Amino acid sequence: MTRRIAILPDAVADQIAAGEVVERPSSALKELVENAIDAGATRVRIEVENGGKTLIEVADDGSGMGREDAVLALDRHATSKIRSASDLVGVTTFGFRGEALPAIGSVSRLTLTTAEVDGEGTELQVVGGRLEHVGPAVRQRGTTVSVRGLFFNTPARRKFLRSAASESRSTYETTATLALAHPAVGIELIQDGQVRLAIPPHQQEADRLLAVWGRDLVGTMVPVQHAAGAFRISGFVQRPGDAGPSGRRTQLFVNGRPFRDSFLLRAAEAGYRAAIHPGDRPSLYLRVDLDPSEVDVNVHPSKLEVRFRDRVGLERTMEDAVRQAIGALVAAAPVGDWRPMPAGLSRLDAGELAESLFGAEVPSASGPGVEPTGDGGAGVAGAADPLAGGLTQIFDTYIVYQAAEGVVFVDQHSAHERVLYERVMSDLSGAGAPAQRLLLPATLELSDEELDALERHREVFERVGYTVDEFGGRTVVLHAVPVPHPKFDAVACFRDMIADLAGGRFGGWANPLERFAATFACRAAVKAGQRLSQEEMRELLLRLFATDLPPHDVHGRSTIVQLPREELERRFGRR
Ligand SMILES: Nc1ncnc2c1ncn2[C@@H]1O[C@H](COP(=O)(O)OP(=O)(O)OP(=O)(O)O)[C@@H](O)[C@H]1O
Ligand SMILES: [Mg+2]
Repeated sequence: MTRRIAILPDAVADQIAAGEVVERPSSALKELVENAIDAGATRVRIEVENGGKTLIEVADDGSGMGREDAVLALDRHATSKIRSASDLVGVTTFGFRGEALPAIGSVSRLTLTTAEVDGEGTELQVVGGRLEHVGPAVRQRGTTVSVRGLFFNTPARRKFLRSAASESRSTYETTATLALAHPAVGIELIQDGQVRLAIPPHQQEADRLLAVWGRDLVGTMVPVQHAAGAFRISGFVQRPGDAGPSGRRTQLFVNGRPFRDSFLLRAAEAGYRAAIHPGDRPSLYLRVDLDPSEVDVNVHPSKLEVRFRDRVGLERTMEDAVRQAIGALVAAAPVGDWRPMPAGLSRLDAGELAESLFGAEVPSASGPGVEPTGDGGAGVAGAADPLAGGLTQIFDTYIVYQAAEGVVFVDQHSAHERVLYERVMSDLSGAGAPAQRLLLPATLELSDEELDALERHREVFERVGYTVDEFGGRTVVLHAVPVPHPKFDAVACFRDMIADLAGGRFGGWANPLERFAATFACRAAVKAGQRLSQEEMRELLLRLFATDLPPHDVHGRSTIVQLPREELERRFGRR
């Protein structure tokens, strides 16, 4: 009988592990730098040649190792960091498997030089997993690991390496991430003889972010600080107006450990609500801190992914954190910045206005919430509106008025859209919108895709005020429709939204309800080119100033443009 099962020689087992731990030069680099940081290094110097294919060298000023430990370190599952499986729960060092060094050593020519005490060091050489040399060496306290000829003995794997330029970029990115994760550690990166990063030790987080991402980007970011339940979220996120469709950077940490999580990034983006255009991607730098037992970091071979016990709670907290940071931005902006009040107007709660936008019942200027500021409204009550004549519509598209800081232009469509968007969002999460029964129900023919879309989104339609029945075949009947204002064409809006939904145009939004609300608001809002009365303009402004949205409309365009008084004076040569 022939034996078919054999225990793999250690060297082979190491090579298999290497495939998981060391995918490419940057992953080896990451392991080596994390070892240095675990060893308490304050400075790490990294040298990379040829994208790491020729050389990856990491030198640190950490604790170093004695001779016996150094030999052991190259053995599989030799680790100083945990002793039993139970230590894995809440592990705080970066390493814990005792796998990285032997794995790298099994697929390269590795030299380890280390000293626990200045001048008394050890040098080891490993070639393709075989310990070839152990001897004394002179070195200051600390450790240097040089990895040459990565994958020289596993040609299949070497073939999968990308171009030197691509591997170089990856080693740069990995180093940048490590630098961000460890603001206290000085990091130097030399690629092909050129210093690419030289970051001093003992930095504060914000200074480190500036050093790594640069002022151009970091200057567009605002701080995030939020705690709820088990989670603390901190970091920086890009201002909505500065986010673009490409070139964004993102970085997530959990308890100081960098990780990847596209769902969590999505949750953060959801915090922007409608403040950015669906195609725009803000740069995000976010830390999650929580009890280490709430997160499992041992689920991914290179520790790039983690698992959270309460993922739903975390995503919600993340969204709230970003939303607050963006909201604070609006609150912090001087009022003139985006709520430039015309004389005689003041901010009021939306609830104080009757549901009458573009209807008959416009509240009088002396009504609740309108406190005349300065002399604008003094002595005017009842019939004459202090703003009568104070608001001008130009091109049947913009409302123009004078504010303290200058002349203000408001895009009527965009303004109305924002007002409606906010209302629809609250209708969708609350009791639903008021609806009007149609005396003559409207009958529509839908395509198969549209019927599907209706089926999937029926509840949302109902919440905004549509009552829809299937009539058989492809016919549906609208019995009741929303009435956001008297000029609203509810049937056309229904058609547009169902077509959008069927066409898959709602993809890409973190929260489909927001997309729905945005579409509804856009379809329902008064259009450019519609003549508005004084009362209508006034009410629109009052409602606009009562919204909580950041100063961008649902497409990320400006709602308000100001021509500062100084600018006028400059142009007329008065200053
Ligand atoms: N730069 C260093 N300075 C001091 N000690 C080191 C250094 N690098 C490695 N060691 C020692 O060698 C051991 C093995 O390192 P290795 O990276 O293989 O495993 P680990 O860090 O314990 O776990 P992991 O495989 O998860 O990285 C470490 O536990 C540590 O004791
Ligand atoms: Mg390690």
